[in-house]
Amino acid sequence: MPTVRPATAADLPGVRAVAARFGNLWPSRPDHLDRELETGRLWVGERGGLVVGFGGTTARGALTHLADLFVLPEHQSSGVGQALLARLLPAGAPRITFASSDPRAIALYTRLGLLPRCPLLYLRGVPGALPPPPAPARPATAAAVADLDAQAAGGARPADLAWYAALPGVTAHRARDGYAFARALPDAVLIGPAGGATAPDCAAAVLAALAAHRELPSARLTVFGPNPLLPLLLGHGFTITDVDLCAASVADPLPYDRYLPHPDLG
Ligand SMILES: CC(C)(COP(=O)(O)OP(=O)(O)OC[C@H]1O[C@@H](n2cnc3c(N)ncnc32)[C@H](O)[C@@H]1OP(=O)(O)O)[C@@H](O)C(=O)NCCC(=O)NCCS
Repeated sequence: MPTVRPATAADLPGVRAVAARFGNLWPSRPDHLDRELETGRLWVGERGGLVVGFGGTTARGALTHLADLFVLPEHQSSGVGQALLARLLPAGAPRITFASSDPRAIALYTRLGLLPRCPLLYLRGVPGALPPPPAPARPATAAAVADLDAQAAGGARPADLAWYAALPGVTAHRARDGYAFARALPDAVLIGPAGGATAPDCAAAVLAALAAHRELPSARLTVFGPNPLLPLLLGHGFTITDVDLCAASVADPLPYDRYLPHPDLG
């Protein structure tokens, strides 16, 4: 049996080595792994004293979001993922994750009660190719959008939003009754989390945040299948780079048509 235990700071190089094998490292620190460690939500799986896998969660109110689960290819299918999940996902509480196309992931989640619910599409495109937003972006603070986020994301996480907003290049935008976080990276803007009181409010905020970064050559965002932004973005040259499956222990964990998650923070 693998050893599974909460991660310590000394485990981070091993955790990052696993994440790097899957291209799941941010370009700069602090990153989502630092945050999961800081909040006590990062666990490692060991064999022979070596970190061979890790998993991490975030919390939005009572909702637990499984944000990371990775096992080194040479140690997959030997029980590490299952052992990590047993510690990461509290039974009896609402749980959600974005499952990769790995059949082992979907099988493990389904057996723990997180049923496949909705496709989540990862999109990339040129922000300058989009039509003008229906309303301009207004700068906002993380605190000012925390309530809107709580209503759209399935639960409150003001401390996580404040942490993210303090990172270099991150800005929060408001437009109509919507909000959108944007992170300007050297070659792209990353949108999310974003949402709104209604689907048009959500779309207005996302388009406003994209317009505010139209000087960047590329934009990345994640959109659930029922979101009306999906046909609009695909109709303006955005392409699908990956597809995950939102799996959750409750039928409607969040409103798919008016919430865009951050790919790693949920
Ligand atoms: C997905 C992942 C984390 C699972 O961890 P793991 O240590 O390989 O998985 P485990 O050995 O604990 O369990 C795998 C289970 O899937 C089952 N399984 C394998 N292939 C399956 C299939 N095609 N259909 C249904 N079940 C399947 C196995 O039977 C096993 O269950 P069992 O041990 O009860 O028999 C790991 O394989 C991984 O890192 N994959 C690549 C990265 C990834 O996609 N991560 C998920 C992000 S959401």
